[in-house]
Amino acid sequence: MVIFKHVKDVKEYIAMQKKAARTVGFVPTMGALHEGHISLIDTAKAESSLVICSIFVNPTQFNDKEDFEKYPVSTEQDIEMLVNAGCDVLFLPSVAEMYPGGTDKIKEYDFGYLETVLEGAQRPGHFRGVGQVVGRLLEIVEPEYLYLGQKDFQQCMVITRLAELTGLRDLKVVICPTMREADGLAMSSRNRRLTDPQRAIAAIIYQCLVSIESKQGNTPFNVVRKECEDLMTAKGFVVEYVTLADATNLKLLDNYKKDTPMVALIAAKIGEIRLIDNLLVGSRES
Ligand code: PAF
Repeated sequence: MVIFKHVKDVKEYIAMQKKAARTVGFVPTMGALHEGHISLIDTAKAESSLVICSIFVNPTQFNDKEDFEKYPVSTEQDIEMLVNAGCDVLFLPSVAEMYPGGTDKIKEYDFGYLETVLEGAQRPGHFRGVGQVVGRLLEIVEPEYLYLGQKDFQQCMVITRLAELTGLRDLKVVICPTMREADGLAMSSRNRRLTDPQRAIAAIIYQCLVSIESKQGNTPFNVVRKECEDLMTAKGFVVEYVTLADATNLKLLDNYKKDTPMVALIAAKIGEIRLIDNLLVGSRES
């Protein structure tokens, strides 16, 4: 695996590879890699002849300074995992390299409604930051394929919209399934900050999502939502949202809706750690 820290060098390398007719599959990350990230690399390897991963903890997408400062960094271990996974290129830029004009002079994109609900509402400015960094990374890497994890459902929508806003019509955004621990907890870099007792109860979020999915057709959603909120609160979570939305546009739904692709989404904090997860809800007859 070749590691680049400078924009100029990685761009030159990619241009050379493209001349040799290699197609670029790109996996952007903030490091602290886990099996979820590696599954994206695996999918990229199956579809692209040059797989590029970036590790960059993007300061502009953290609305909480402490969350940024405490974001886990494990670069040596990440490199080892990427080498073992057969990743071809790692782009590991500094803040100065990514934002040479400063963090307040980066191109911004307007994601409209998506910025105002759920993660957008809970983390003001977060998606502006995601748009800035992914926009910049796409300018640098110019991939044919971009791989994202469904775990960040709303982020996937924002980045798909970004591809439209930037006119990257040929870019294929590939959304890959959420990878889970044996008890159902969605893999996340933040999980490593959980204490043992917090880790022991963290999978309740997934259990709630499963109950939202399975009670479709026999219990109104507001009843299921209350059960989930009560269960999580009793276990010590601070619930931010338990919600059901149209999976195509993230419009919030009051109840299960026939013939509509739906997604259940939950955000909750255990102690200092904020976890999010989601599950697609099939549109079975009710
Ligand atoms: O999901 C992430 O790790 C980040 O939000 C991303 C897409 C790499 C942008 O910094």
